Amino acid sequence: MTAGKLLTDAERRLTEAGVEEPGQNAQWLLADAMGVERLRLLAEPDLPVGAAALKKFNKGLLLKEQGLPLAYILGWQDFRGLRINVDERVLVPRPETEELAGHAADFLAGRKGALSALDYGAGSGAIALWLGKRFPALRVTAAEKSPRAIACARENAEALGLAARVKFVRASTLGPVRGPFDLIVSNPPYIPSGVIPGLAPEVLSEPKVALDGGGDGLDIARMLAQQAPAKLKKGGALLLELGGGQPGKLLAAMPAATWKDKKMFRDLCGIERFLFARIK
Ligand SMILES: C[S@@+](CC[C@H](N)C(=O)[O-])C[C@H]1O[C@@H](n2cnc3c(N)ncnc32)[C@H](O)[C@@H]1O
Repeated sequence: MTAGKLLTDAERRLTEAGVEEPGQNAQWLLADAMGVERLRLLAEPDLPVGAAALKKFNKGLLLKEQGLPLAYILGWQDFRGLRINVDERVLVPRPETEELAGHAADFLAGRKGALSALDYGAGSGAIALWLGKRFPALRVTAAEKSPRAIACARENAEALGLAARVKFVRASTLGPVRGPFDLIVSNPPYIPSGVIPGLAPEVLSEPKVALDGGGDGLDIARMLAQQAPAKLKKGGALLLELGGGQPGKLLAAMPAATWKDKKMFRDLCGIERFLFARIK
């Protein structure tokens, strides 16, 4: 059996199962099963596929048809060039969060002195670890409520040789987290509770604690906006990823006596996604 023929059949199967981007999913699964670069499959459709690769591919295809996120099947997700291992313990890092990390880096690059940053709700550790790698002198803290997520983030830190650089704290508020920080960055759970049951099966296979932001989705974000002033250095920033329409709502509730430079950034899809504010 050739790669090209397998990909055609697999794309049809995934389309019938209602999977989004069926072609790309099939390519990633086959490339992973064969241990080759994805683009090579497109360049060499006549590449023969051995029995072991075929077995692995069929297993992955079945899981994908059942609605499992591709990253859980592969066991990893690329995050700005870092390979972050993921499984059912953590949310799969999204492209918007890569943008969030970029904004975090832009802010830190403009600060002077010994810098420290907190990634709150660190999940797989993607943001904390990428920032740690990007800024070798940065002191990084990763805070997280879920012990299972902390275990995953620690494993990632070790795999990436960053374990000595990141301090992990189990927390469900900023109370136990020791500052002060130049930056508190967070991609908190921000989906309104009532929306959760209607989410796609792929999203529903991710931990509910990573998704559910309470009634209007802003429970954790609001807590961060209230508690962050006590944990930030003068001029330090709070930077959040939120759902469409949420940054404006939260910014309006952040007092001008405490915060300055209040801004929203749009994501690459044009959605008002990121909240930024500095402490006076
Ligand atoms: C949307 S996920 C983000 C994970 C990761 N930072 C990323 O961007 O891929 C939110 C994370 O916040 C954690 N979390 C939920 N409630 C929390 C709370 N009250 N305090 C700390 N972490 C919380 C979840 O366990 C989850 O790992």
